[in-house]
Amino acid sequence: MSHSVEIRIASDADTASKNVAEEFAKALQLKPSIVLGLATGGTPVGVYQQLVSLYQAGKISFQQCTTFNLDEYVGLGPDHPQSYRYFMQTNLFDHIDIAAGQTFVPDGVSNSIQDSCADYEEKIQSFGGIDLQLLGIGENGHIAFNEPGSDSNGRTNVVDLTENTISANSRFFESIEEVPRQAVTMGIGTILESKRIILMATGRNKAEAIARALEGEPGDDSPASFLTTRENITFVLDQDAASRLSGPTIRRTKEIL
Ligand code: GLP
Repeated sequence: MSHSVEIRIASDADTASKNVAEEFAKALQLKPSIVLGLATGGTPVGVYQQLVSLYQAGKISFQQCTTFNLDEYVGLGPDHPQSYRYFMQTNLFDHIDIAAGQTFVPDGVSNSIQDSCADYEEKIQSFGGIDLQLLGIGENGHIAFNEPGSDSNGRTNVVDLTENTISANSRFFESIEEVPRQAVTMGIGTILESKRIILMATGRNKAEAIARALEGEPGDDSPASFLTTRENITFVLDQDAASRLSGPTIRRTKEIL
């Protein structure tokens, strides 16, 4: 593993969320016009709650900032409760002072999805790229919806979801049949271009994926492992997600929260 990866291990998920939210808040204070990359899933919910509290306390404003989300299900429109646009509205955007036109989520219901993927890439570039990207990780090591086997140079595209991901995400749907089989996702190449990345993982079900990403050679069996090839990357874990890391990795952990 490249030693430029910073690893923080928190006593619990709440502490990890607070740490990530504080870093986002500081970045926002330093550069109000920051371009944020945002993630969905269970993991970042606590981070968004913290950011809403900081906003309500008058400590941060999102008025000048722009956000790009990582991914969206194909076939789910913005009003579908399981769409990632809906998730972002209800967990963050509806509670802060961000302008509606400043939040971007890939379009899962476009008639010309390839064109809209290319437009998404151009849009990110037109804002000067992503300054700070938040990532979760799938149980199989996926980042955004880049499943194992994805190209490390990939750009925003339509992808097929694996059975593992469909089954893991079915907990948010009434039944597994309702989980879309495809998604639009930023590519690994798109993600790696972010100026700074924070990957957050909590829970024992992420421990294997975290150990594989951080230990051993980067490879496409673990999309998250490609993150270790770059600078400016921090993994924020709780003890459960860190529980399969080897002694040497734990010993070089920079911070225990
Ligand atoms: C989904 C998302 C990912 C997310 C992953 C883990 O598949 N596309 O961006 O990181 O799930 O989600 P959770 O945080 O719910 O475990």
